[in-house]
This record gives sequence, C-alpha cells and structure tokens, in this order.
Amino acid sequence: EKQITILGIETSCDETSAAVLVNGVNLRSHIISSQIMTHQKYGGVVPEIASREHSLHIRPVVEQSLAEANVGFKDLSAIAVTYGPGLVGSLLVGVSGAKAMAYAAGIPLLGINHLEGHIYANFLEHQDLEFPLLALLVSGGHTHLIVFKDHGRYEVLGYTRDDAAGEALDKVARALGLGYPGGPQIQKTAQEGNEQAFKFPRAMLEPGSLDFSFSGMKSAVLNALNSAHMRGETLNVPDLAASFQQAVVDVLVHKALLALQQTGVKTLLLAGGVAANRLLRETLEYELARQNVRLVYPSPVFCTDNGAMIAAAGYYHFLAGDAAPWTLNAVPGLNL
Ligand code: KG4
Ligand code: ZN
Repeated sequence: EKQITILGIETSCDETSAAVLVNGVNLRSHIISSQIMTHQKYGGVVPEIASREHSLHIRPVVEQSLAEANVGFKDLSAIAVTYGPGLVGSLLVGVSGAKAMAYAAGIPLLGINHLEGHIYANFLEHQDLEFPLLALLVSGGHTHLIVFKDHGRYEVLGYTRDDAAGEALDKVARALGLGYPGGPQIQKTAQEGNEQAFKFPRAMLEPGSLDFSFSGMKSAVLNALNSAHMRGETLNVPDLAASFQQAVVDVLVHKALLALQQTGVKTLLLAGGVAANRLLRETLEYELARQNVRLVYPSPVFCTDNGAMIAAAGYYHFLAGDAAPWTLNAVPGLNL
C-alpha cells in the first residue's frame, strides 16, 4: 500500500518549523527553530526581524527534517505550507520556499490555513476522533469556537470581538514586567498567587452569545496597576497574574460549555498556544467529566506553532484531492 508522506512547513510568526508526517499519524521528524530569544529583548515579535530569520532558517530546517526522516524530495507526496493568517513577510518565506520546492520536485503544493493547522494538531496524537467535534481555538491572535461536522466541513460559532485570549495574557504579562511570551509567564507566576485576590470582570456579552471579549478584562488589570501607581502603592504581581488567569479561564470554560450545550457535541478539542495552559486544561477536564464530554488536547509542543500540525492538516487535504495553484500567495488576514 502506498504511503502518503507530507512535508509540513510553518513560518507564520516567530517559529520556523518543518515536519515529515507519514499517513497522518507517523511523525518521522519535527524541527522547530524558535526566534523567542531574538524577540525577547523587544518585548514582542518584530515582523521585519522575523522574516529575515525565517529566510536564514527555512533551508536548514527543511533539510534537517528530511534528513531525520530519512527521506528525499522524491519520497514526498506533497508539501503543505501555512499561507495565512500571520505576518505577511514571515508567511511569504514559507510560501515561496514551499512553492519552489514542490515545483522542482514535481509534487503538489497544499496551502494550509494556520488556524485549521492548530486544530489538526489534535489528530496527530488521537486517531479515534469522531465527528462532530467542537474546537476551542485559543492562540495569540485568535479565539474561536468552531464546530466540525467532518474534515473540511466546519462552522464558526463565535470569536473574539477584540483581543485574543493569548494577546490579552501577553499584554498583561508585559505590564506586570513578566516578559514575552506572556502566557507561560502568567501561568508560572500565578502559581505563587491567590486567584481571588482581585475581582476582575468576566466579559460574557449578550446571553447565549458564543463571542468573546478580552480587551475590557485586560484594561481592568492595567487600570488597577495605574491607580495603585498613582497612590504610590505596589500590587502583588503573583496575585494579579493568578486573578487574571482565572478570569480568562472562567470565560473560556463558560463559553465552551455553552457551545457544547447548544450543539450537543460530545467531544471538545483544544487548540492553539493557550491550550497549553494548565489551569484551562484542568478546569475543562473537571467540568467535562461531569457532563460525559470527552476532552482532547495536543501535547504542549503541538499547541504552539509547529510544522507537524500543518503536515497533519495537509494530509487530510491531500486525501480530499486538494492542491494549491502555483500562484498561491500569503494571505495575512485569512480567516476560517
Ligand atoms: O498558537 P501560538 O503559538 O501562536 C499564534 O498562532 O498566536 O500561540 C501563542 C500564544 C501566546 O499568546 C502565548 O502567550 C500563549 O499562546 N501561550 C500560553 C501558554 N503557552 C503559550 N498561554 C497560557 N498558558 C500557557 N502555558
Ligand atoms: Zn499559531
């Protein structure tokens, strides 16, 4: 039986990553070159620097992933690449690189939506997922609730009207002097804090709404910091981190439960960088067990940006007979 071997490439933000995936489940190699150290001193990703770093790293990262998987271009069935959403300069490096490699190798090019990639990270480690599935996608740029009726057949039920959950965590972390990326720092600092010390609002919007809003919640923390500063007081940073993390998790969990209730779906997939958050996982684990709903999430390495998830999404697109035209372009504002 013929093997389907997909090379997945991800360059949408600050990770240059490539992976070789056989038949959707056998991850033969996975290389991630992270630029976190480079951007840390600026407190966030600098797009100009990110795209230069991608151009430097894409070839070695792809070569290493092929070498570790012990395959050549001739063994590949297709090359899958993120074409959006993301930083345009970063995306372009992946898209043009993948296009050149696929064209030269005479194999199909698959354009993958980064958000879809995050969700397909779940299929890497779970072969027994049954549709319909509900996905809570929480990353630095997006917060979405999506119902999947089948591969490629999905509907967005709700999304954030302002900041993404990860973005709010990153901005609060920055204001607290915790550094970048903020989510993991908030999680770490929160361990030493009391989550009931500050009463931050939980934005729920209209009754029944599956949309999110994190900007007002973020502002509540910034306002507390500012007014303390004016009074010459300093606030307890671990308490702030714990209280804000709790507020964000409360909203995410509340909306996920509401969506499960509204749709009757019995499996919840977590996806995106914030899906690595321990409080979010543990709270959902507890709540869903009581409702007989299965909770599935990727290992932390597959939650944040990575090439394996792009290869996984690519595998299902390949099976569906999809192929991108050679005119495929980066689409920074691509949505689901
Ligand atoms: O999916 P991702 O790597 O990139 C985007 O597509 O945005 O997500 C990055 C986001 C950042 O906001 C980061 O702070 C957050 O995921 N994050 C976390 C954790 N690990 C990463 N947030 C909370 N807890 C974590 N453990
Ligand atoms: Zn991402």
